[in-house]
Amino acid sequence: MDVSGLAWNYVDLLVIFLPAMVANGAPVIFKGKTPLDGGKKFIDGKRVFGDGKTVEGFLIGVLAGLIIGLFEALVTFNNNFLYIGLLGGLGAMLGDVAGSFLKRRMGYERGEPLLFADQLDFALCTTLFYYLSGVEMNLYALLLIYLTIFVLHIGTNRIAYNLKLKDVPY
Ligand code: CTP
Ligand code: MG
Repeated sequence: MDVSGLAWNYVDLLVIFLPAMVANGAPVIFKGKTPLDGGKKFIDGKRVFGDGKTVEGFLIGVLAGLIIGLFEALVTFNNNFLYIGLLGGLGAMLGDVAGSFLKRRMGYERGEPLLFADQLDFALCTTLFYYLSGVEMNLYALLLIYLTIFVLHIGTNRIAYNLKLKDVPY
């Protein structure tokens, strides 16, 4: 699968990050019940991930990434986007879990805000996945994508709060 050279500019990168962005938002709408960590505590006595990370949410996020990738593949006639969708969905969900793992280790309770980690954990992990898969990303365009995701995340979370999908506006 050749996905190298796909991303050179901001708009291309937006398309490539869209599966991850949708994946990250999907569990907020379709909330799960089964905690990914099975309710278990880490060696520091705090939860491994916490109740905010569920099996159902994780799977729905990966599926959402795949669906966006499928859509992009159909629109562009480029099957590489199926791969981008899977990588984006998986990268986003694993990054989200990694973010919560770090938050718990730092002593933050589930849902307590942690600036930058909350908004960018999924985007950073997705970047790593894409990078390891050979997707070429222009650094400046990438920084602009992070800025976009940061602003969008704050905006969409406020909307989710107003729609009563979230208990807190961040
Ligand atoms: N969610 C889920 N499963 C996931 C990720 C998210 O069910 N794998 C749902 C949970 O209901 C979660 C909500 O989406 O509360 C918002 O996600 P997020 O803000 O990432 O979680 P927080 O509750 O803020 O927890 P944390 O402090 O661990 O980030
Ligand atoms: Mg949160």
